[in-house]
Parts: sequence; structure tokens; C-alpha cells
Amino acid sequence: MARADLMCDLIKFGLAHDDKRFMQSAEAVCAEEREKQHTVLAERIEKILLTARHTRQRPKQDANIVRQGTVGAPSLFLEKAPLRRMSELILPNYVQELCEGLIEEQLRSDLLRSYGLEPRHKMLLVGAPGNGKTTLAEAIAESLMVPFYTVRYEQLIGSYLGETASRLSQLFDYARTRPCVLFFDEFETLGKERGDTHETGEIKRVVSSLLLQIDSLPSYVIVIAATNHDILLDKAAWRRFQIRVELPPPTRAALSAWLSLYERKNDLDFGIEPETIAKKIYGCSFAEAEEIATEIYRRYVLSMPADNTKRITNEVLRLWAKQRQQGEARERSDG
Ligand SMILES: Nc1ncnc2c1ncn2[C@@H]1O[C@H](COP(=O)(O)OP(=O)(O)O)[C@@H](O)[C@H]1O
Ligand SMILES: [Mg+2]
Repeated sequence: MARADLMCDLIKFGLAHDDKRFMQSAEAVCAEEREKQHTVLAERIEKILLTARHTRQRPKQDANIVRQGTVGAPSLFLEKAPLRRMSELILPNYVQELCEGLIEEQLRSDLLRSYGLEPRHKMLLVGAPGNGKTTLAEAIAESLMVPFYTVRYEQLIGSYLGETASRLSQLFDYARTRPCVLFFDEFETLGKERGDTHETGEIKRVVSSLLLQIDSLPSYVIVIAATNHDILLDKAAWRRFQIRVELPPPTRAALSAWLSLYERKNDLDFGIEPETIAKKIYGCSFAEAEEIATEIYRRYVLSMPADNTKRITNEVLRLWAKQRQQGEARERSDG
């Protein structure tokens, strides 16, 4: 017989229709039976679980995509129901305050308007990949409870002269029909220094009309542009944005806070203090930290019910350090 607490969990999660935890408990029961050499029973359970997993619909990676149109204005952006939350993000205090300021102005725009004031609605996010630009844009939409539209450049840029300008108008006409967050990711690909001689006249015209369109948007449309390289943005583009924020790579304290948050969110204990892990992985982005944490979690789940997260964490960190060394060596030989 499986351990009493596992059986209780199994029943509890089954009754609560908590599929995820139910499956986790069932796997734990299976692993325990196998450990006790009850191979036949373990295999039977495994088979049941395997079939269940195949027939249950797997959550798709982008399950929150609401719509991706193929014609007209809806084909020019990806609509997502925003799920990420501000509370999931570790941000420098001043960034947090700036974002909260924007959110408050938007939520209380009626009051502002009654005094003849408009809320701010144009924001530029700058920073190296993996430090939260896209997530923050989505989280702002979530806080404001409005749809999150990501502009699809590949659809926007037409092959004929003038085509792009008309699509841009379509896009902005659509956006201004309701409060929303309109997100321009990798903005530098569009807003590139207009003096760049490699760019065709068409692109320059696109950028000019894009900037004009952004200017003419009503304040209930929140435009957020994200870029990796602010140097590629020209001054005119910079000035368009009322809030310009840099999302820096995480400090050690930020990494440590993020790891603790991950532990709490997943009911997991890395077996090593978050500060110690943060020290070892310092220099990585939040996205990389997420990869490391997820790898530990994955291995931990596969090893259940054995409780040896400390060993797993050390192992993942060791492999990660090795990879980093190799990456650095390659960079040195390339440069
Ligand atoms: N400041 C942050 N706080 C918490 N998690 C973050 C932060 N920045 C990035 N992440 C995590 O890393 C992942 C990648 O971040 P993303 O927003 O796509 O970065 P970017 O758009 O700047 O490349 C996200 O899924 C998020 O969970
Ligand atoms: Mg991004």
C-alpha cells in the first residue's frame, strides 16, 4: 500500500478536480510502488496515467491567444487575453512606481479629464532580452483589464509602395475603437535611425507615419514599445514616449527575490538558499534564471517521491556553469 499521506492527497485532489495535483500524486504513488518492487502494480498505474495524459488536452504554450486574424485589421496583430501580473515581476522600485503611476492615471482617467487632464499612455521599454519587457507590457494590460495586442510586422509591411501606410491606418483605426494595450515589440526593427542609409525610402515613410499615428492616438489606447537597443532609436522616436524605462538585468538581490517567488509559486524548495543560488548564477537574465529554476523543478518532479532537491539543484547549477564556461570560451574565440 502506498503511503497514507499520498493516498489522502490523491483522494483530496481528485475530489477537488485539481487535475494537475491529482496527476502529481498519482505519479508519486506509482513511483513508490515501483520502489517497493511492486512492479506489476506500478506498471498498471503508469499505463493508466499515460493514456490519461494522451487523451487530456495538453495546454498549448500560447493558450491565451484569443485571436489571430487572417484578413483586414485583425490580421495585423495578435490578440491575447493578458494573464501575466505585475506581482510576478521583480522590478527596480522606480520602474514599479512609474508603472503604477501609469496604471493609476488610466484607472482614474475620468477624474483627470474632469480637470482637463489626460492620463499618460505612451511608454518605451528598453533592455536586453529576457528581462521582462514583453511580460511587463502584458501585465500592464492585465492591471487595466484591457486586451493586449501585439503588432505583427510581417503582416504590416507590404511589398507594394503605399500598401504599408494603408495597413498602418487600418491598424490604428482598429486600435482606437476601444481601450487596449498596443504593443510594438522589437521596435528598433521599425523605428530604426531614419538616417540609416541602408533603409529604403519606404521604411522611412513608414516610420514617419507610424510616429504620427502614435501621436494622434486617444489616451485610452496605451502604446508600449519595446527595444533591445535604444541607440538605434532616433530622437524623434524617443520624444514620442511620455514614459521611458530601462529594464536592467537582475541584481543578485533581484535574482534571489525571483527564486523565492518561484519556490512559493510552485510549492517547491530548492534545498539551497535562494541567495546562494543567486550568487552562483549572477550575470544571467531573468529568462535564464527561469530556465534554471524550471529545469530543477522538472528533475524534482521526475524524481518524486524521493526528496533530494539539494542534490538536483547542485547538479543543475553545475551543468549550467559548465555551459556558461563553454559559451564564454566560444565568444572569446569568435571575438
Ligand atoms: N523582471 C522580471 N521579473 C520576473 N520575471 C521576469 C522578469 N523579466 C523576465 N522575467 C521572466 O523571463 C521570461 C522572459 O521575459 P520577457 O518578458 O519575454 O523578456 P523580454 O521581452 O525583455 O525579452 C518571462 O517569462 C518572465 O517570466
Ligand atoms: Mg520580449
